[in-house]
Amino acid sequence: MTDKTQSIHGQWSSRFAFILAATGSAVGLGNIWKFPYITGENGGGAFVMVYLLCVAALGIPIMIAEIMLGRRGRQSPINTMQSLSKEAGADPRWHYLGWCGMIAGFLILAYYSVIAGWSMAYIVKDFFGGFINSNADEIQRLFENLMASPLQQIFWHTVFMIITMQLVMRGVQNGLEKAVRFLMPALFVILILLVAYAMSSGAYDQGMTFLFNPDFSKIDADAVLTAMGHAFFTLSLGMGAIMVYGSYLPSHVSIAKTTFFIAGADTIVALLAGIAIFPLVFANNLEAAAGPGLIFQTLPLAFGHMTGGWLFGLLFFILLFFAALSSSISLIEPAVAWLVENKNIERHQACVWAGSACWALGIGVVFSFNIWSDLKFFDKNLFELLDYLTANLMLPLGGMAIAIFAGWMMKQSHAEQELEIPAKGFQAWQFLIKYVSPAAVFLVSLHVVGVL
Ligand code: PFF
Repeated sequence: MTDKTQSIHGQWSSRFAFILAATGSAVGLGNIWKFPYITGENGGGAFVMVYLLCVAALGIPIMIAEIMLGRRGRQSPINTMQSLSKEAGADPRWHYLGWCGMIAGFLILAYYSVIAGWSMAYIVKDFFGGFINSNADEIQRLFENLMASPLQQIFWHTVFMIITMQLVMRGVQNGLEKAVRFLMPALFVILILLVAYAMSSGAYDQGMTFLFNPDFSKIDADAVLTAMGHAFFTLSLGMGAIMVYGSYLPSHVSIAKTTFFIAGADTIVALLAGIAIFPLVFANNLEAAAGPGLIFQTLPLAFGHMTGGWLFGLLFFILLFFAALSSSISLIEPAVAWLVENKNIERHQACVWAGSACWALGIGVVFSFNIWSDLKFFDKNLFELLDYLTANLMLPLGGMAIAIFAGWMMKQSHAEQELEIPAKGFQAWQFLIKYVSPAAVFLVSLHVVGVL
């Protein structure tokens, strides 16, 4: 609410600190692990175009809305929605939006942590020279062995969850902020070097054609849904993570400018990852549609053959782990902030509760890659189900609700006051969140359910 200038959980020390943390949340496994593999599964260029369009027309306006709601509410998403709906004279049930987001964050972290665990396992594999001079079959076998081993995966998933919860326990400035300060620039540099390698030793033209030459016959409604869902996933939208980060944002910072920076950095990292990976995929006759194992089956091959590849691989997987870490802390922060506010418990206790529940669900995700791989719900194993439910349904619908609230429920004078952008920009933003975002999510959802 307007009378509060700071959240009880603390505040970012500067605009730069917020940018780092929010970029840290946005840039993660979604950009480097997920974007290439779903692009590979959905035929390339046309999918990339739909994704970019969704980032521009839905992602950016909704990110502005989500940060704005967070900063105005200054509490966990559930309580923020409760007080903002009161302020706007809207139905108090809007706070269920905060609940959905909290649950989505939980479900995402359960599998996110398992995949982050794979990147940790690969740090060790690289360290012991596991990729040196290996051919494509050997690299593939390495990945299959990890998939077949519940114990190895549970071990790394556990280590990752413990590190995440340790960081979250330290709170806004000590934990979250310090963790991301150096990692983002370092990740960026290593991706550029990987692109340079792909240009010199991969099937660069073929990779670029695959990524940027749109062939619309290759996509269907499901691919459009996946591209739209990924725009939300990659920008951490629709579940309150960016909202809760916004609640720690000082009042004078420009939300719009900050958003453009975050979305721009996020998109560049994803595209760089794609540009680094696909030339290697084609040069080595690998399968573009290999699925979640794509980067783990492609990049080690490059690391195994390039000069300095051992060090390079080590740095890459360490940075991937850190990118995952700065996202995972934001996935659990809404739940932790809510537990502290409503259950009257200390931050560290809240972390233990929330973290343990996520960890337990993650064990099921590990099993879905081996002993439970045949256990299907709606034709999907547990990992696929959680991913579909969250990225393709909960996040876009959550984003749509955020857009509707910011565009239709909240007093527009309040929005203007928070955003402080020139009238033309404000009108454009309003048009996008009032009409374009809700309509787009609604139409794609109807199409998928088979109504359209
Ligand atoms: N944006 C993160 C990524 O691309 O890896 C994932 C994510 C983080 C999604 C936080 C949602 C969220 F709230």
